[in-house]
Amino acid sequence: MLNGKHIILGITGSIAAYKAAMLCRLLVKEGAEVRVIMTPLAKQFITPLTMATLSKHPILVEFFNPENGEWNSHVSLGEWADMLLIAPATANTLAKMTTGIADNLLLTTYLSARSKVAVAPAMDLDMYAHITTQQNLRTLEERGVAIIEPAAGELASGLVGKGRMAEPEDIVEQVKAIFAEEQRATLSGKRYIVTAGATIEPIDPVRYITNHSTGKMGYAIAEELARRGAEVKLITGRTTLATPEGVERIDVLTAEDMYNATLKAWEAADGAVMCAAVADYTPISVADRKLKKSDDDMRIELRRTKDIAKELGANKGCRTLVGFALETDNEEANAEGKLERKNLDFVVLNSLRDKGAGFGGDTNKITIISRTAREEYPLMSKREVAKVIVDNIEKIER
Ligand code: C5P
Repeated sequence: MLNGKHIILGITGSIAAYKAAMLCRLLVKEGAEVRVIMTPLAKQFITPLTMATLSKHPILVEFFNPENGEWNSHVSLGEWADMLLIAPATANTLAKMTTGIADNLLLTTYLSARSKVAVAPAMDLDMYAHITTQQNLRTLEERGVAIIEPAAGELASGLVGKGRMAEPEDIVEQVKAIFAEEQRATLSGKRYIVTAGATIEPIDPVRYITNHSTGKMGYAIAEELARRGAEVKLITGRTTLATPEGVERIDVLTAEDMYNATLKAWEAADGAVMCAAVADYTPISVADRKLKKSDDDMRIELRRTKDIAKELGANKGCRTLVGFALETDNEEANAEGKLERKNLDFVVLNSLRDKGAGFGGDTNKITIISRTAREEYPLMSKREVAKVIVDNIEKIER
């Protein structure tokens, strides 16, 4: 259920911090990848060594490592996370979250996080019942923070009342419920096409023309759309990638095959993301036997293939159509040209000039260009890029 989920576990200075050890263990057992951020005071309650061992990663407390100056980037942490879970969350941290105080790494990460945020308050009953704390909790809730209610019972102070942090098992159940809720919602009932990978244009039974696309970006997008409940048809050139869960995969070879499969699927689709690197030219004729070499030069005559994205754009109606632009020069002008020519809602531009962008790797650096906006994103994993792209699709769908 939490397989592959990225969770930042934020621990603040409460006696309930000892329960964070069990919580971390349970999250890891459920398949989550956990990174721990502690506030400076939290270290007095539970040792960094315990948390680092359980989460299998060094814990983070400060903005930088004073030994070597290495920077702990709250922005990248915020982007990495699928959830920021603060457990235990003290009255102090909750108050700072409400007002935007950012005087430790956990709070700056909270302000940078694009993910779901959940807090499990832990404090004495009077602090919990205090109007200020209650107002802060309601404010955070209104802003979309999930509140994992504390339990009533005996407190560390010896008093009995509400304020004891929820038990780790219950927190894990609520974390799962939050993810399930997220998964169910947004794009259920929508039918999306994703084209991905490189097409292959045979020259003869042995040789072919293709390009460096691996399909990673398109597969990540198909996965993200499916995760948000969309029915996804992934029309793909040859790759070595596994089919993402819940996605219908249609394998094709040539640009012509991809054109036919995509146009057929377009009839019943609500949108399409054109991620494939489709060959622009294909041999006019394919030899039925292996071409023999001679001492002379050789020419292969090519003809233009059909532009799939353009064809969908011409028959778009009010459906959503997203295209990619991989450029080496005049990036923005070329991307804007595609937006118009292919009648796209937005273009995802990646430039081969940017380090870490484009073919093969696990990262990408994109700019999203629509008719009304232009947003440049930092270098991110292709999974995170997929989320950003699907977030932009959701905005159109709404
Ligand atoms: O024109 P260009 O190939 O640069 O446009 C790139 C965009 O158009 C990508 O979204 C790509 O998937 C799509 N495309 C297509 N069919 C083609 C060529 C490109 O769908 N034949």
